[in-house]
Amino acid sequence: MVKLDLLIKNGTIITATDTLHADVGIKDEKVVKIAENLEANSDTRIVDARDMYVFPGAIDVHVHFQLPFGGTISADDFENGTKAAAMGGVTTVLDFAIQQKGHPILEAVKARRKEADGKVCIDYGLHAAITDWNPQTQAEIKQVIDYGIPTFKMFMIYKEQGWMADDGMLFQALEETKKFGGMIGVHAESVDILDMLIDRYAQEKEKWGAYAHTLSRPDYTESEAVQRAIKWAEVTGGRLYIVHMSAGESAQYVHDARARGVHVYAETCPQYLLLDDSVFKGDNGHLYATCPQIKKKKDGTRLWQGLINGEIQVVATDTCTFDTKQKAMWKGDFRKIPFGLPGVETMFPLLYTEGVGKGRFSLTHLIRLASTNPAKIFGMYPQKGEIAVGSDADLVVFDPEKKLTLRAKDLQTNCDWSPFEGWKLKGYPHTTISRGKIVVADGKFVGECGYGQFLKRQAVKELDI
Ligand code: URP
Ligand code: ZN
Ligand code: ZN
Repeated sequence: MVKLDLLIKNGTIITATDTLHADVGIKDEKVVKIAENLEANSDTRIVDARDMYVFPGAIDVHVHFQLPFGGTISADDFENGTKAAAMGGVTTVLDFAIQQKGHPILEAVKARRKEADGKVCIDYGLHAAITDWNPQTQAEIKQVIDYGIPTFKMFMIYKEQGWMADDGMLFQALEETKKFGGMIGVHAESVDILDMLIDRYAQEKEKWGAYAHTLSRPDYTESEAVQRAIKWAEVTGGRLYIVHMSAGESAQYVHDARARGVHVYAETCPQYLLLDDSVFKGDNGHLYATCPQIKKKKDGTRLWQGLINGEIQVVATDTCTFDTKQKAMWKGDFRKIPFGLPGVETMFPLLYTEGVGKGRFSLTHLIRLASTNPAKIFGMYPQKGEIAVGSDADLVVFDPEKKLTLRAKDLQTNCDWSPFEGWKLKGYPHTTISRGKIVVADGKFVGECGYGQFLKRQAVKELDI
């Protein structure tokens, strides 16, 4: 008989495809048995999951911990950011290594790993952000994929930061990654129109305050760029992923392209699903500034529809935490607000309450959006995003009856405010397990800094979503 390290008893297991009442046996960081009435030995630790769900851990494929941005550094570092993730039922995060112009991509990857390794409490991986395209970058694509980073990010804006990729770079990167099963994620916004509108509203910045952030970023500043990036994916045959999609019209373009057979995937985030641009009208409107902008109610409605019908395959957060002191740097000028929101800790419980709790989608669909689809699209499946023999024991024991009102002061994040302050939740993670180790027990963090590992991901040849 296999001597189990950990045994989760009496729970209801939910995967992307199945619901079953069974115990989960864990040994050496992996799931080794799934069956009814599994037996423990004297050393086996037991978690009683009666009346609770057992989910594969959520995967947030879009976080920016300790990112230098907007004249400051995002407030959740790799240690606290991954603690916050675990508290919210997230067992894997993907952050970004941003190439410096004129330097190799792998130099940025190694520098980012130095910041994360030994600090992270759960497993993490990196995307490589391409900011420069030359023969050396082109030659590096295969090396970076072989290193365990098959996904790249390109920003269609952020000229001043030196991060912007033009269409020629995007086109060539799609061609090159296609050869090796890589994928290009894009931050899609129309830089020239955006810059023109920002200049226009800057003339009247006192009149509009934080609302100018919204006025200068209407939906077409995103959807035009989404449409353009899709065109380059279509003609190159490359695989494209739209990050943090915020506009209803963008969802329609993704829908149409997928119907034509273009290899395009999309992510949206809780802030675009649950908030609308009225948040910018309050006294603290500047706190909500993120990029791309939170759009109108109708956009949120269209994004929910996209999540439900499979046009949008992933929910992630774009976590980039700035506290009220950092946000105060704007001093009335909407161009100077550090853009970004906290989110990794609240994503999964919000999605449960608002998605499953409100009858928008099923439990299995929740797991597809928050765990299995991200694992498949980003080359981690079935190691992550699954509950099966041989998969990493990354699990969440989730209490569907737990009622809670979100308060920034109760959260692990270093943020002193929350975009979802006062939101009422029903359902919250009870226990989080990362590679067989309990890191959150009964809602308290019990993990350790440095336990998490860098995750080598695989190139993806075929995708069934
Ligand atoms: O406002 C945001 N999202 N800041 C982080 C950088 C990005 O665009 O993802
Ligand atoms: Zn972005
Ligand atoms: Zn981002």
